[in-house]
Amino acid sequence: MQFFIICLVIHLAYFNPLKFSLNISAHLTRLINQEDIKLMEDMGVNSFRFSISWARILPKGMHGDVNMAGIQHYNKLIDALLHKGIQPFVTLTHYDIPQELEDRYGGWLSPKIQSDFGYYADMCFKYFGDRVKYWVTINEPNVIAVRGYRLGTFPPVRCSGLFGNCSVGSSEREPFIAAHNMILSHASAVTIYRTKYQERQGGMVGISLNTQWYEPFSNSSQDNYATQRARSFVYNWFLDPIIFGRYPKEMQQILGNNLPIFSRNDMKKLKNGLDFIGLNHYTAAYIKDCLYSTCEHGVSWSEGSYFRATEKDGVPIGEPTTMDWLFVYPQGMEKLVMYMKDRFNNTPIIITENGIAESDDPDFSLEDAINDTPRVEFMHSYLNSLANAMREGANVRGYFAWSLLDNFEWLDGYTKRFGLHYVNFTNLQRTPKLSATRYKELITNFQSQLATHTS
Ligand SMILES: *[C@@H]1O[C@H](CO)[C@@H](O)[C@H](O)[C@H]1NC(C)=O
Ligand SMILES: *[C@@H]1O[C@H](CO)[C@@H](O)[C@H](O)[C@H]1NC(C)=O
Ligand SMILES: *[C@@H]1O[C@H](CO)[C@@H](O)[C@H](O)[C@H]1NC(C)=O
Ligand SMILES: *[C@@H]1O[C@H](CO)[C@@H](O)[C@H](O)[C@H]1NC(C)=O
Repeated sequence: MQFFIICLVIHLAYFNPLKFSLNISAHLTRLINQEDIKLMEDMGVNSFRFSISWARILPKGMHGDVNMAGIQHYNKLIDALLHKGIQPFVTLTHYDIPQELEDRYGGWLSPKIQSDFGYYADMCFKYFGDRVKYWVTINEPNVIAVRGYRLGTFPPVRCSGLFGNCSVGSSEREPFIAAHNMILSHASAVTIYRTKYQERQGGMVGISLNTQWYEPFSNSSQDNYATQRARSFVYNWFLDPIIFGRYPKEMQQILGNNLPIFSRNDMKKLKNGLDFIGLNHYTAAYIKDCLYSTCEHGVSWSEGSYFRATEKDGVPIGEPTTMDWLFVYPQGMEKLVMYMKDRFNNTPIIITENGIAESDDPDFSLEDAINDTPRVEFMHSYLNSLANAMREGANVRGYFAWSLLDNFEWLDGYTKRFGLHYVNFTNLQRTPKLSATRYKELITNFQSQLATHTS
């Protein structure tokens, strides 16, 4: 059993720092330091999840040299972690790609990115794979496809029609093209790992999806089918091709020719194309049919025609939090993991993210800010739910809390605090919140619960 804590080294190429009027470059260069590794050690974690910046290793992708300063930067971090007995758990791309690839051929929209990503992965396995044994190829490709190419809220801000406010894009087509290239880029990296490195280096490679748990809004067969569609259009979209070599049938039925096609060769490359499924899991929602019934605000046919509700008869699905999308629904963890177990033949699962945020409040004293009882309760209930799934036979290999430190939360900037440690964004000082102090106890309890079960 592995236990981990996560924090992410973020790269802000596209997220406009001016909006937050803070000196982000200064914060970033100091984001993870020796002091932070000491914090991990104090919490008793045995792994740390972070991402490598593709552009920092290959500023021009495969069309230029490896940046050795970037290699040395990550070597130092990896060695410092291992020195403390903490396994590095590395993500190759977390939302950003080198600008060069966007300029040259449109990034994820071009099949050319498959060999570029393969080359980048090869360089990472070559330089770091002697010490890194856990690899995530792409973090939340389903979020990149939807936010980058359907809603246009994330880079490269492409969308069309009523989906968003973009100058270019095609919301009903491009998400599927970008996703197709991400799936095949993942497959390129995995193929390279398996043929050139895995035997010698002995690590595992997977992918992390953003996964909400979906409950049918009612018992009707329409809502049940809509719920299956939601799962397929949101996460099986990526997992089915990678594991079975084809898109989910709900997507094939609805999208028809709008769904790109895998060649025979692609399918061969894809089958069982991962060693673990990474689940970023936070919350749940109800799903109501909009294919057979009319909905006022349902999602379009290209998204699967359903309505995603966070409440029923005025009652929210779980306790609301400071993030408008995040409701506390711990039973969703067990249900999601059991669903993945059944659908994907008990492929190993790693929870690669789980957590909640506080809103930044400038009037809070440090004492108020570190008293995060709701986070302790959240992690406690989600870990219990995860333990249930494991007792029922799910092959779960690890859990990462999001996040070690208060971080730059994408479009929310520094206004939401997901950390187990409070960061003062003026002087960058870190202070353990209650949850950081309690984490050791939470994971020890979790492990002993499971040990009691197996003995
Ligand atoms: C941001 O911080 C860096 C490093 O401390 C400093 O060199 C730079 O001048 C700062 N930039 C601004 C706009 O304050
Ligand atoms: C869409 O973007 C344009 C250009 O940035 C802006 O002027 C306009 O207000 C935006 N419209 C909406 C509905 O956000
Ligand atoms: C579903 O059906 C069961 C048994 O018939 C019933 O107890 C339950 O309340 C129903 N749930 C919903 C959401 O309608
Ligand atoms: C953050 O640091 C600044 C500068 O040292 C200090 O004035 C402020 O009180 C600190 N904020 C908190 C919440 O500790």
